[in-house]
Amino acid sequence: MDSNVQKRRENKKSLRVKVISLGNAEVGKSCIIKRYCEKRFVPKYLATIGIDYGVTKVQVRDREIKVNIFDMAGHPFFYEVRNEFYKDSQGVVLVYDVGLRESFDALDSWLGEMKQEMGSMVNMESIVFVVFNVTCRSTVDLTKRRVVDEGVGRLWAESRGFHYFETSAQSGEGISEMFQAFFSSITDMCENGGKRPVAEVTVGFTKEQADTIRRIRNSKDSWDMLGVKPGATREEVNKAYRKLAVLLHPDKCVAPGSEDAFKAVVNARTSLLKNIK
Ligand code: GTP
Ligand code: MG
Repeated sequence: MDSNVQKRRENKKSLRVKVISLGNAEVGKSCIIKRYCEKRFVPKYLATIGIDYGVTKVQVRDREIKVNIFDMAGHPFFYEVRNEFYKDSQGVVLVYDVGLRESFDALDSWLGEMKQEMGSMVNMESIVFVVFNVTCRSTVDLTKRRVVDEGVGRLWAESRGFHYFETSAQSGEGISEMFQAFFSSITDMCENGGKRPVAEVTVGFTKEQADTIRRIRNSKDSWDMLGVKPGATREEVNKAYRKLAVLLHPDKCVAPGSEDAFKAVVNARTSLLKNIK
């Protein structure tokens, strides 16, 4: 075969992509990347100073993908350095620690910083997001340390069309599977003209269901949970209950946490009706 034709074919098959890591300081971003690229775990915390850059090659189907990884420092001090590196990212690794609530709560502000730095014209549909987390930090029993349940993390991620994985950089559990899924989604997106394929953002539940579950989890009392004013009538409580029951019934809603939210709504209605004449 003509060597130019051969070269052109090979070029067509190779892709160059840029991915970044985001998340609070000390949540395990660098460890996850090191575990994947170098197959090792460093227990000592070495804060990333500004940015760490690395390149790796991966194979997705018949394509060779050259991945440029920009591992960002999570500390606010490095904002001026990392803000230069958001542009042109095709993949984002968002990391939080399941043992640190504030690192989970900070995910929205990381997305906010990213949008701000990439400019208002950025199309979030042309970026693949994956949410990782560190499943254990020490020999301490995870069930005692864990403060963010899997369902809560998964709901946050999947309701936005992001992938969600639980991993451990220490044991290596789940790391290569999740990176492979991540790179394969980026490849799908590139082959789909730079837009996340529809199937990927279809998660089997609606944004309304996800938002309602979140609202129920954060509600301060039973009135608030049902979305009625304190002192509402039986009819108003029942009407609000029916609406939520239809939305969240476990037979109809597959969003993570829907079962607990449904039970909470049933209990809220029961306790309110007890006290309304
Ligand atoms: P910055 O660079 O400051 O933004 O932090 P980072 O998010 O890159 O954190 P880093 O990867 O350096 O890890 C922080 C600490 O968490 C280190 O002490 C790691 O050893 C520890 N760590 C990270 N992943 C795991 C894990 O899966 N299990 C355990 N036990 N510890 C982990
Ligand atoms: Mg780091």
